[in-house]
Amino acid sequence: MLRFPFDRVDGLEVAPELAAVARSNFARLHERRSTIFTADATRFDRYRDYDFLYIYSPFAASVMARCMARVVESVDDRPRTVTILYLNTCCHDEIVATGRVTFESIARTPHGNDIKVYRLT
Ligand SMILES: C[S@@+](CC[C@H](N)C(=O)[O-])C[C@H]1O[C@@H](n2cnc3c(N)ncnc32)[C@H](O)[C@@H]1O
Repeated sequence: MLRFPFDRVDGLEVAPELAAVARSNFARLHERRSTIFTADATRFDRYRDYDFLYIYSPFAASVMARCMARVVESVDDRPRTVTILYLNTCCHDEIVATGRVTFESIARTPHGNDIKVYRLT
């Protein structure tokens, strides 16, 4: 993500020890565009600051549904298009069940894994 001209490339991780590893990695890169938040994605209150979400199979279905509800709320709060990039798509149904998200395409990582691309408006 840091190879692209995003204003910010932040991370969200519920496990403090993993968040600490991520902070240490970004510090080694001397990267000032990144903040790692230690928070539960179902309670995170800053989704309105983001236009792109990259998610890598983090949740069970019920958690994904609650997380997506927060993201949809953030679009109601600050209208915009959010692009969701989802690697290892276990919860496609919970994403489209919001009624607000459209599946757009499948991209492929250099390692051959599928990334599904969605738009939320
Ligand atoms: C497959 S790992 C992905 C790790 C890394 N973010 C990446 O993209 O390579 C999924 C991560 O989601 C985190 N996670 C699980 N439930 C979460 C929640 N409710 N809120 C935030 N992070 C969560 C796990 O602790 C785990 O580190």
